Amino acid sequence: MKAMPAEEWTTAEHVDRYLGRADRCPRRAEGESVLLEHVPRDARRVLDLGTGDGRLLGLLETDRREMLAVGLDVSELMLEAARERFVGKERIEVVEHDLTAPLPTLGRFDTVVSSMAIHHLEHERKHSLYSEVFDLLEPGGVFANFEHVASPTRRLHLAFFAAIDEPLEHEDRSDRLLDVESQLRWLRELGFDDVDCYWKWLEMALLVGVKPTTDG
Ligand SMILES: C[S@@+](CC[C@H](N)C(=O)[O-])C[C@H]1O[C@@H](n2cnc3c(N)ncnc32)[C@H](O)[C@@H]1O
Repeated sequence: MKAMPAEEWTTAEHVDRYLGRADRCPRRAEGESVLLEHVPRDARRVLDLGTGDGRLLGLLETDRREMLAVGLDVSELMLEAARERFVGKERIEVVEHDLTAPLPTLGRFDTVVSSMAIHHLEHERKHSLYSEVFDLLEPGGVFANFEHVASPTRRLHLAFFAAIDEPLEHEDRSDRLLDVESQLRWLRELGFDDVDCYWKWLEMALLVGVKPTTDG
């Protein structure tokens, strides 16, 4: 049976299992490094949707010393891990928020990122969240979503799980995987520019869009 979105992230067993293998996922570092290339070094305000233990913000802050970041997540266990990672770093704030609800009022951002999180939301909410992201980005701002996407066939889905050396029984019950094409189309329809899949390996993909500047 499918879990409610976010439900499984309330258990220590699930969270520990994910955090224990996050670094071992093949090719993940490669995809993340492409994301880092597309976030300007002078990014000032960065929002991370479904930040988990702050993995992506940790990578971003290494060479973005001016960055002021907010990481949102629903899981108290993940937020605790993120707070531990960023202890003493006041420019990085982690906030409890369930992404099934509209984003809280946080002001504008020049970059919005996400990693392996939005696929836990129902498709309709993915779409409305992309629209909210567009609205809170500054003109010229970047949205970079490093995501677990759907395979076009069951065979390729099984091949992905084999490639990451995970039994299919370990598939997150809250996964609501969606293909790359639909998500790119949505981003274009919402008004993002330069929309493309900037990197992909099996079910891991980096989807990027830029909010147009008023002067084009
Ligand atoms: C696979 S983990 C990825 C965490 C982190 N971004 C990373 O790259 O390691 C998925 C994250 O999405 C969060 N998440 C799932 N559903 C959510 C929801 N409805 N609202 C906010 N966060 C959610 C989980 O708590 C978890 O931290």
